Amino acid sequence: MKLNRRTLTTLALAAASLASLLPGTALAQKKIVLGFAQVGAESEWRTANTESIKSAAKESGIELKFSDGQQKQENQIKAIRSYIAQKVDVIAFSPVVESGWETVLREAKAAKIPVVLTDRSVNTKDDSLYVTFMGSDFVEEGRKAGRWMVEKMKDQKGEVNIVELQGTVGSAPAIDRKKGFEEIIKADPKFKIIRSQTGDFTRAKGKEVMEAFLKAEGKKINVLYAHNDDMAIGAIQAIEEAGLKPAKDITIISIDAVKGAFEAMMAGKLNVSVECSPLLGPQLMTAVKDIKAGKTIPKRIVTEEGIFPMEVAKTEFPKRKY
Ligand code: AHR
Repeated sequence: MKLNRRTLTTLALAAASLASLLPGTALAQKKIVLGFAQVGAESEWRTANTESIKSAAKESGIELKFSDGQQKQENQIKAIRSYIAQKVDVIAFSPVVESGWETVLREAKAAKIPVVLTDRSVNTKDDSLYVTFMGSDFVEEGRKAGRWMVEKMKDQKGEVNIVELQGTVGSAPAIDRKKGFEEIIKADPKFKIIRSQTGDFTRAKGKEVMEAFLKAEGKKINVLYAHNDDMAIGAIQAIEEAGLKPAKDITIISIDAVKGAFEAMMAGKLNVSVECSPLLGPQLMTAVKDIKAGKTIPKRIVTEEGIFPMEVAKTEFPKRKY
């Protein structure tokens, strides 16, 4: 039987309306499938980020395949390969470290699966390997921390001895937050980083490394710069156990501005937290839909963020979403 164009259009419209009446059937519109390879669950920030992605996927009607890499690159690569094998529509991930992704990203490209980077970026010369990178400007976060400290210590005569708790070795936030902070403090030789070590973005490691710093440097330490709130909170415990007063004997600066940091600020134990928003879920789902609809999206989407000193913690706390 030969059907004319008009009959074909009528049939297509009928099928579409039937599909909307019968969700869950083969006639219903196929859901977009997103494979997300998360870093892990190392911090309060990461928990909020995971929650944001899961709830945004649900609200957007996107089917989410989620994996927790437990802070290991090989686990994330394995997850990405399995998403490629399952032929998902889009792959998104937050790379635990910056380097070593080219091979798997080429595999995704060969399979024609678009990739979105969220939160952390990769170190590659070939930026055709991903569609967009959405997340914070970590260098700027380091600068904000540095500027706050320079202003606070402007009248202090003599050396300002700083200890630094770095994030995961090789990760974008650890590299960039160090870079931004150092860029600011190098203008004045009185600022000296006397110890710098990784605390892997966790409370337990933050405490452990701070204990070692205190053992080695004791009362010489004027400032602690922690690359995230969790490590700062762990370090606060170590400082108290050493008989010192956090935020008084040692000025404490950290990054993320999670609720735990606000609680520490309200208790007078943390001086300031630079904001790094984990609420990337809604933005990610919009990007996924736009990519599937063939729209062009910006190569870089930067999150807007502030800085919260302890003086504003009480007023800001009720407004915090994470
Ligand atoms: O990549 C963002 C960083 O990762 C957050 O600052 C830290 O808390 C997390 O673990």
